[in-house]
Amino acid sequence: MTHLSVLRRESVEALLRAPNGLYVDGTYGRGGHSGLLLEGLGEAGRLLALDQDPEAQRSAEQHQHDGRFRFVSDNFCALEQHVEPESIDGLLLDLGMSSPQIDDAARGFSFRFDGPLDMRMDPERGQSAAEYLQQVSEQELGRVLRDYGEERYWRRIARAIIEARGRITRTSELVAIVNAASPRATPGKHPATRTFQALRIAVNRELDVLSTILEALPRLLCLGGRAAIISFHSLEDRLVKRATRPDPATTRLPRGLPVAPPVQLALRQCGKVIKPSSTEARDNPRARSAVLRILERVA
Ligand SMILES: C[S@@+](CC[C@H](N)C(=O)[O-])C[C@H]1O[C@@H](n2cnc3c(N)ncnc32)[C@H](O)[C@@H]1O
Repeated sequence: MTHLSVLRRESVEALLRAPNGLYVDGTYGRGGHSGLLLEGLGEAGRLLALDQDPEAQRSAEQHQHDGRFRFVSDNFCALEQHVEPESIDGLLLDLGMSSPQIDDAARGFSFRFDGPLDMRMDPERGQSAAEYLQQVSEQELGRVLRDYGEERYWRRIARAIIEARGRITRTSELVAIVNAASPRATPGKHPATRTFQALRIAVNRELDVLSTILEALPRLLCLGGRAAIISFHSLEDRLVKRATRPDPATTRLPRGLPVAPPVQLALRQCGKVIKPSSTEARDNPRARSAVLRILERVA
């Protein structure tokens, strides 16, 4: 049930360069990264933590005695409503789920436990996974399974779900449908792993909210301010990488022009991507797919 924070030291060390500055942990979870950030902050430093999950808010009580700490229960895509423009020295995003969320059957994230098919990180907002499955088209569901789940049997599983959807309200019912529709399981992987991952990403609009905050980074970070982003899915990492690349729409040149004009980029990537050490990957299976990128506002 406890959550082992991923790339904790690496991400916090890369961020903390002005100990009396303003830091934001956009994915508080159980406060592993926040705790280390607070240890490194000076007396005048401040840490604003956000999480959209009510359990994270309860966990944040552990830090409420610290006058430098403030918790806001919200989606990180709304961060601009909670800070002054260009005020953040360091922003941490440790994307995805925490282990206690996955292990709580009542939240419906796991194919290992029977529970209501919900999967919302913020249970007060949006559609549950069961409601989503009631109205999604077979074509869109197939796309979600293929792109977000990298599920090779996406067509068969999408069809089976759509045929049964009036009857899917619990995780165990979805598992049974995916099992029956999957001709062969990948060794060591439960056949429903990819379907559950895909639905969680769709229900929580995880790629949309990541795109929103990446687009806002130049308005949020102070000049020289950094964002440390830990992603667990190749599509997430691709979005983060793209935030430091020139927009093809603005750099395309009329034919025949020999030299591209310099493009003033707002963000640059500091150093190479950072991955968990072999020890961390051995001790924490969740860490194995993690990729950390450090972005810095340069203009
Ligand atoms: C991987 S956990 C973070 C764990 C944390 N770094 C720690 O060490 O305890 C991700 C957390 O981010 C939250 N989260 C994910 N996406 C979010 C979003 N768009 N806005 C706010 N919170 C989000 C989840 O509810 C979850 O608690």
